Amino acid sequence: MTVGAALDLSHHFSVETKSRKASPLKSCIHLFHDPNIIFLGGGLPMSKYFPWDNLNVQSPLPPFKNGIGEVPSGTDKDTCHVQIRRDETTKAGDTIDVPLSRALQYGHSQGQPEFLSFVKEHTELVHKMQYSDWDVLATTGNTGAFESALRIFCDRGDTILAEQYSFSASIYAAEAQGINVFPVPLDDHGLIPERLATILDNWNPEVKKPKLLYTIPTGQNPTGSSLSYERKAEIYRIAQKHDLIILEDEPYYFLQMDEYQEDPSQRKTTTYSSHSEFLQSLAKSFISMDTEGRVIRMDSFSKVLGPGTRLGWIVASKQIVTAFLRLHEMSIQNPSGFSQSIVAGTLNRWGQDGFLDWMVGLRQEYNEKRDVAIDALHKYVPEDSVFHVNPPIAGMFFTISIDSSKHPEFATKYESKPELVEQAIYNKVVESGVLIVPGAWFKVEGETQPPQPAESKKELDPNRIFFRGTYAAVPLDKLQDGIRKVGIALKEEFQL
Ligand SMILES: Cc1ncc(COP(=O)(O)O)c(C=O)c1O
Repeated sequence: MTVGAALDLSHHFSVETKSRKASPLKSCIHLFHDPNIIFLGGGLPMSKYFPWDNLNVQSPLPPFKNGIGEVPSGTDKDTCHVQIRRDETTKAGDTIDVPLSRALQYGHSQGQPEFLSFVKEHTELVHKMQYSDWDVLATTGNTGAFESALRIFCDRGDTILAEQYSFSASIYAAEAQGINVFPVPLDDHGLIPERLATILDNWNPEVKKPKLLYTIPTGQNPTGSSLSYERKAEIYRIAQKHDLIILEDEPYYFLQMDEYQEDPSQRKTTTYSSHSEFLQSLAKSFISMDTEGRVIRMDSFSKVLGPGTRLGWIVASKQIVTAFLRLHEMSIQNPSGFSQSIVAGTLNRWGQDGFLDWMVGLRQEYNEKRDVAIDALHKYVPEDSVFHVNPPIAGMFFTISIDSSKHPEFATKYESKPELVEQAIYNKVVESGVLIVPGAWFKVEGETQPPQPAESKKELDPNRIFFRGTYAAVPLDKLQDGIRKVGIALKEEFQL
């Protein structure tokens, strides 16, 4: 199949991006590795002054027969040995390792070739890209990538769109840059395309239109919802109509699970006879349906390998990747060289199949944790017109949503204000020794000046509040006990 090239979306760039010049020093840094050049051109310390001579790490060996939690014994039977030398004997990218002399040196702001080639191959395998000039760039994870994206596209006073409840760090990062975040309602199945269309079709012409839609499509934080293919396709069409860039924040993409079955006898953890069968089972991403280069995908190792790797990558058109590169050259320079060496060394030994095996193993773990959490919620929190639990099919979060107007003292003690009921429940649950987090902490409440029409701001159900919990962070017995305590606190509060 022949595929076209990405659109030129440079009209969306911020003043900062349009003003940025490429650093002349970065344009010659590749010559540092040219044996025919005596490099007197930059402040690069000699690698013999790096105190580390080699790096040895061990991880479990694919296909992780005993599950992903198994500690490797150190023998070749179940252990993947990553041994990284200081010095380079071949050209960058010719072997699977990033030697320390290069990993710890300046340069390679886009990422080390051994890392980039792995994630590029992974991207092609998982997302089957539909335009020709796409590229990848190493990031310090999605927090940093999002912050960069804001700077690349937005000026102070611009508006972006986001799910009405969203990852608070992202929203605060935008607001701190003077960017207004306008909410798009979402339900149990994620962002509602019709509401997005209403907002954009009726956008107040006196206000600059949003350039960006920030979305967390899989295992949304905080609601735990996941977007279906049909919704994504509709959202993509709306983005095309309104010339929007979609920023898909996907740290939970590989934490996709089987649908929750209430009856334990009906439960099965899906096994896959091949890697391609596993790949086919995954939700279709926005980037995989992008034919125009209007999606920026942010991937992260935080939830699948470890948050402290501070390593991830973006996938976008070459034009957009170059804008990230120019910003990173003058900000973070590159993610940690140790991290790239260890992660690339491990993944290149596991191979693409081994990485997918790891994801299959993770999926099994999260299936079990999710089932235990939802079983306990069904046991301890009555599902009725007051309380509602939405069993997630991806990610780390469950939510308990509550009709605050059903509180016996809603009109009296709480003055018919849902947020006061929410605060009272929060206090009560914390007093009982458990932490779940009020939905209000994630609420996106931006408004433009002059404002958008009332219809665009209409809430689905203003009296519904919710709490976010996670099944990721604690062992199963604590998870059940925590949910039991939440159930007791809720029943007491609602005098049930
Ligand atoms: C939606 C979302 N984006 C980004 C992050 C942070 O990701 P990273 O560790 O890659 O910066 C989180 C983590 O909680 C998240 O939930």
